[in-house]
Amino acid sequence: LRFLGLGTANLEPVSTDDQGAIRVADLESVLAMRPHGPTIVCLQSGNVNSGACDDLATAAAIAHDHGAWVHVDGAFGLWAAANPATRPLMNGIEMLDSWAVDGHKWLNVPHDSGYVFCAHPVAHAAAMAHSAAYLTGQGQGGLRSPGDFVMESSRRARGFATWAALRELGRTGVADLVERCCALARRFAHQLGAIDGVMVVNDVVLNQVLVSFGDDRRTDLVVEHVQRSGECWMGATTWHGQRLMRISVSNATTTEADVDRSVIAIRNAHRAVTTPS
Ligand SMILES: Cc1ncc(COP(=O)(O)O)c(C=O)c1O
Repeated sequence: LRFLGLGTANLEPVSTDDQGAIRVADLESVLAMRPHGPTIVCLQSGNVNSGACDDLATAAAIAHDHGAWVHVDGAFGLWAAANPATRPLMNGIEMLDSWAVDGHKWLNVPHDSGYVFCAHPVAHAAAMAHSAAYLTGQGQGGLRSPGDFVMESSRRARGFATWAALRELGRTGVADLVERCCALARRFAHQLGAIDGVMVVNDVVLNQVLVSFGDDRRTDLVVEHVQRSGECWMGATTWHGQRLMRISVSNATTTEADVDRSVIAIRNAHRAVTTPS
């Protein structure tokens, strides 16, 4: 938002549902307040906690009616569009003005491979192109100059790893990768939810699983215990005011056996934390 230059004081939050997806009715009311000047609506595909995806089609239609630019942060979630089973979560994506997505998340390529897709190349270049007397090629002639679309003048060939990964996986390989991780997330949710005193608190629509172990202190202790065990790693988060274990299945090499082994480690940690010594 700072890079956009609109000023953080002009930020208008829009309420979300219990899964963290935007309430489109509230978006309508916020936009109806007729903000002064240019407006951008930032949507999310893949809430960082729950994995929930905004209703892109409805939100984009409302936003465009109000003359707003519509952007989606799909840092990890946008990959779901490549998988037929999760593609409906991205319905309306083609209506948006810009997408942001990372390769170093679900595609498993090294940091830092981020991509922007913008439906308005002229506006994109107008915002990013820069030049100096000693530079040549920028913003001139018929040849597309990649430097006109990024902030840096110098950058390594980050696109190479992405090209190689996509070439190796192909369309079905990416779809399989997404589907496998989502299935493994459901496997985590199913097995963890069956343990006494353990509760999965989100709808597992993507690769994210949020788990409560009763209270905040106990949840933090379980996460710490599992991390120290070295069996697997997952972080913790705060969601609707509650401390939760945050499982994010995104590694291409993770297997069902890894999930089962991780569930045992979590069950043991939960037992160790709840059993009086
Ligand atoms: C939803 C979401 N948006 C943005 C980011 C930041 O992206 P980057 O790693 O490219 O800085 C992340 C994670 O890092 C993320 O999960």
